[in-house]
Amino acid sequence: MDVLATPVGTDRLVLRRFAPDDVADVYAYQRLPEVARYLYRPPLSRAQCAELVARRAAAELRWAVDGDDIGLAVCRRDEPGVLGSVVLTLRSARARQAEIGWVFHPAHAGHGYATEAARALAARAFDVLGVHRVFARLDVENTASVRLCERLGMRREAHLVENDLDGDRWGSEYVYAALAADLVR
Ligand SMILES: CC(C)(COP(=O)(O)OP(=O)(O)OC[C@H]1O[C@@H](n2cnc3c(N)ncnc32)[C@H](O)[C@@H]1OP(=O)(O)O)[C@@H](O)C(=O)NCCC(=O)NCCS
Repeated sequence: MDVLATPVGTDRLVLRRFAPDDVADVYAYQRLPEVARYLYRPPLSRAQCAELVARRAAAELRWAVDGDDIGLAVCRRDEPGVLGSVVLTLRSARARQAEIGWVFHPAHAGHGYATEAARALAARAFDVLGVHRVFARLDVENTASVRLCERLGMRREAHLVENDLDGDRWGSEYVYAALAADLVR
């Protein structure tokens, strides 16, 4: 299935495949400690961003087996440049479960872009990819992501206590999820 047979767009945004010349834009936010803070890994180097963008640009966008993922660049309709990215990962093909994630440049925070992009991707998951449940896992201290999940209509289903290590900090996570009818469109 060509999951991007029709473009994913919103009033203000276009969600598109990554292109090789997106590396500088991606590095501009992936290099920042405040962006990596709740991602359970260090900021990315320029070389890691180049590898990530090249992999995304060349990916087949398959949606068939566990682990298949679709990572899209989020851009404004009226300006060049990548604001951030959204990713959808098929966690269970059998049970039609997908995990959603987002990373944006802090310079573009506070305008609702991440919410708008995540909403469009979740809608595509339900309406086109046949996903039954979309979920997100986030550090409990990641309050911006918590608010984003709640704006989408996702419900908090779990609080995992000290289930991961973030350097020398025990990390605790929330699991948020939505069925199709829960998504605030
Ligand atoms: C998580 C992240 C994407 C959230 O960014 P954000 O700017 O808060 O999210 P949005 O772009 O959706 O903007 C929402 C904010 O804009 C405001 N806003 C303004 N106009 C808006 C509009 N038209 N629609 C919705 N919200 C709007 C909202 O009130 C909200 O502000 P608030 O949370 O203070 O109430 C961002 O913090 C990030 O990239 N963090 C680093 C990576 C990360 O941790 N990813 C998640 C891993 S689980």
